[in-house]
Amino acid sequence: MKAFNLQLRFLVPLVVVLTAAAYFALPLMDSLTLRWFARDMNMRGNLMANTLSESIAAALEDPKGRKLQQLFNRAVEDERMVAMGWCSPTGELLTRTASYPRELSCDDADRLASETEPRLRLPGGPVHVSAHPVTAESGPVGQLVLLHDLSFIERRSLDTRRYLIALLAGVGIVIALVTMAVAQLSWRGWVSGTRALLRGEGLVRPLGGGAPELAPVAAELRARLRDLEDEYRRYQGHEAEWDAPRLQSLLRSQLRGDQVIVVSNREPYIHEKGKDGRVFVRRPASGLVTAVEPVMRACSGTWIAHGSGTADRKAVDRHDRVALPPGHEEYQLRRVWLSPEEEQGYYYGFANEGMWPLCHVAHVRPVFRESDWLYYKTVNQRFADAVVAEARSEDPVVLVQDYHFALLPAMVRRRLPRATILTFWHIPWPNPESFGICPWRQEILEGLLGSTIMGFHTRFHCKNFIEAVDRYLEARIEHEHSTISYKGEQTFIESYPISIEWPTRDSVSEWASPAECRRQVCELHDIPGHHRIAVGVDRFDYTKGILERLHAVERLLEKHPEWRGKFTFVQVAAPTRAALEEYQAFQQRIEQVTRRINERFSAGGREVVRLLAQHHEHEQVNRLYRAADVCLVTSLHDGMNLVCKEFVAARDDEQGVLVLSRFAGAARDMPEALIVNPYHVEEVADAIHRSLTMPPAEQRERMANLRSTVREFNVYRWAGKMLTDAARWRLRERISERVQRHGAPEEERNAANM
Ligand code: G6P
Repeated sequence: MKAFNLQLRFLVPLVVVLTAAAYFALPLMDSLTLRWFARDMNMRGNLMANTLSESIAAALEDPKGRKLQQLFNRAVEDERMVAMGWCSPTGELLTRTASYPRELSCDDADRLASETEPRLRLPGGPVHVSAHPVTAESGPVGQLVLLHDLSFIERRSLDTRRYLIALLAGVGIVIALVTMAVAQLSWRGWVSGTRALLRGEGLVRPLGGGAPELAPVAAELRARLRDLEDEYRRYQGHEAEWDAPRLQSLLRSQLRGDQVIVVSNREPYIHEKGKDGRVFVRRPASGLVTAVEPVMRACSGTWIAHGSGTADRKAVDRHDRVALPPGHEEYQLRRVWLSPEEEQGYYYGFANEGMWPLCHVAHVRPVFRESDWLYYKTVNQRFADAVVAEARSEDPVVLVQDYHFALLPAMVRRRLPRATILTFWHIPWPNPESFGICPWRQEILEGLLGSTIMGFHTRFHCKNFIEAVDRYLEARIEHEHSTISYKGEQTFIESYPISIEWPTRDSVSEWASPAECRRQVCELHDIPGHHRIAVGVDRFDYTKGILERLHAVERLLEKHPEWRGKFTFVQVAAPTRAALEEYQAFQQRIEQVTRRINERFSAGGREVVRLLAQHHEHEQVNRLYRAADVCLVTSLHDGMNLVCKEFVAARDDEQGVLVLSRFAGAARDMPEALIVNPYHVEEVADAIHRSLTMPPAEQRERMANLRSTVREFNVYRWAGKMLTDAARWRLRERISERVQRHGAPEEERNAANM
């Protein structure tokens, strides 16, 4: 259609020009032809006069003039000759044929004949008038007046006009057709060229193989399209974005509303007794809780966890249940009670002195005690019993969380063989050699293989797990399908990178602006307004690289003295596992190094490092993120790390720089951060300097991309992918059960074998 319009724009002026040409050319052509004919007529008249002169001289001898009359009558039988007249030398009309007009006197005829267009219109049509003196031997005898027929000229002119118009129309049509063909071809060329551009071929080779001059245009167009696409993705969100309603509809449709039970050690809300005796609710610092809680709200299921708060028993009903979140009551928390010995052996001992350092290769020796192992087994059984007790059907969906429950999947499988058990390992899985340190490695692996699906953050951890099973168990591994068959049961090993809940518009609208957050943070911590601020937010854990971070800050101030008196580093370190010696020693070490740095570099009585070793609520942390110029995440080893994702989610102003350890699982999906090796102090110091001097445009570019990734790969997607796989697995199980029981139609048998 566009091509047609373009052609019309060209053809209409062409038609106008051709019509104007015909309009002006035709009269000109008529007058030219008339002149040519007039000359011919005159010559013909002369010829006739000469031929007839003798006959006329003879006829004049007849005094009655009859002979002359007869001669003239014969002569006008010629179809081109209309009339003839004879004028005496004195100008008197003596003889004329019948058709000669009476009113045409000899003088008039003489005058007319001397004009350039000697024409006269008679009733029969136009005539040409010519006058020819006739001379005899005796001298001039008179003048012959001839009236030639001109009507044939009019007929010819009409024919010529028709031919000319037909010719111009023909030329017009040919030009139009040629133009249309050329336009079509070039339009197609443009269309295919543009398509090639959109496919990205324009940048690789010249358009259409032969228009190198279009390459810069191609590059420009591609860049613009990319910008538009980015903007669209950023501001409109991903088309198939995962959110709570989508997860709920997945549960209703694919899992037919089946019961979902979550098992974790840490509970999502802790009831504590305050100093004044009043009960208050606390949210623990735990990446696991941050991620699983929104999923649980969407699932309305049951969450089984250790009741560790001082007022937890007060908050539950007689079945040890409490509806959460406080005031909203979207799911049930079933609390499991542990004695101090059990907590010491299972949680502090086996889980956090054994498994935690075993899986995080962070140069802290794992400690494995027989007594801890026994408690670990007892507590796993206690939680497995709780799962069975909470199950309302024989095939609930059980989501087992983390390294505290490596034995639980097989324990639940024994009691509920039809349950779908998804175990997610929130921390790294080490290589088989490191894992081999664990004296109960075989039992741990067997326990985990009770799961239907075993999930890790990254493919790398999946690979390590499969290799460990290969090394320590007699199992059949199908690498192609990523499944392990052990004692007749199959487990699917898959990576599901965990994430956070993307903040809703409503929650964002309640946030103070970054400038206001900055003002509040500066005021709260007595930081001068002109200081650049870096933040770190972690549990006080040796795997988080807090020490390495402090060394990097120290090195920055050595290398770049210009930052002294202009830079403050705020480190939030939430107390964790403080009963363990390793953690106490670590905390002391950090406090000591902080003191040293502050002694070296503090200016005007203000500390350059602010160590805030206390629990911070989400709102406080969010304010810190929004106030910061840089966020430092320098874990020595981390399954995923959600602090970096929270920082990105907090920066709707698209400012701020993320410095991220390459040993955190998140580094794989967040390449726009400044990726560092936390053990390389110099590199981290340089990255901080680079962040502090990064132009706002570059910050925006990086942050916008990070935000788009985290928004799309949010926690609902994490849960959604796992539950979709679980639903597929359940369908497969149902079909294969039916096949075994009754035999089934062929397509069901095929589905069961997929
Ligand atoms: C890590 C673990 C979680 C744990 C969290 C906090 O993120 O993967 O399972 O809840 O640390 O540790 P804590 O021992 O206080 O629960």
